[in-house]
Amino acid sequence: MRGLREELLADATGDVLEVGCGTGRNLPFYHHAKSLVLTEPDPEMARRTRRHLGEAAMPVELVEAPAEALPFANGRFQTVVSTLVLCTVRDPAVAIAEIRRVLEPGGLFLVMEHTQAHPGGWRRAQDLLTPAWRHLAAGCHLNRPTLAMIEAAGFSPLRVVEVGQGLLPLRVGRYRSPGQAPQRPPW
Ligand SMILES: C[S@@+](CC[C@H](N)C(=O)[O-])C[C@H]1O[C@@H](n2cnc3c(N)ncnc32)[C@H](O)[C@@H]1O
Repeated sequence: MRGLREELLADATGDVLEVGCGTGRNLPFYHHAKSLVLTEPDPEMARRTRRHLGEAAMPVELVEAPAEALPFANGRFQTVVSTLVLCTVRDPAVAIAEIRRVLEPGGLFLVMEHTQAHPGGWRRAQDLLTPAWRHLAAGCHLNRPTLAMIEAAGFSPLRVVEVGQGLLPLRVGRYRSPGQAPQRPPW
């Protein structure tokens, strides 16, 4: 999974927001960000991540907030990152709407999430196991149609890769938010 994170986050440029950063596993891979804001609602995870912020090569801030209520202005970021988070948030539709709001028009949404399986046996198993799994895995849902929700929120897929199948089929996606990115001077 380290390689997948590294490849995905190579595309994180400009002012970057990561939602649900956990213990900061993505921190070593932000080589092209101008600035980085991490959010995490769990105070203990936030405390563990804060210890590593000084190691980053760009200005980094950590804000304790859930993805459903991001305390940032509209269009504040050029890139938003979510890895293994949208399976767990309380209200994924609201979280995705918030991500769209804080991204500038034409901004990049980078995701690595496990999602609902294709129709068939694995999907049925996900539906069956999710109630128990949620209790065991801190609210994680096996069967969320996360990619469909991202597209329903108006994001356009640029590239989506399916990594494996089974109970936890991983998807790595790059999405563009609606609208045209503002013109910037070339310097
Ligand atoms: C499986 S961990 C993934 C952590 C990290 N993103 C990674 O890739 O290693 C799930 C994370 O989602 C966070 N989380 C749970 N509910 C959330 C919410 N409503 N908004 C944002 N993050 C949330 C958890 O606190 C946890 O840090």
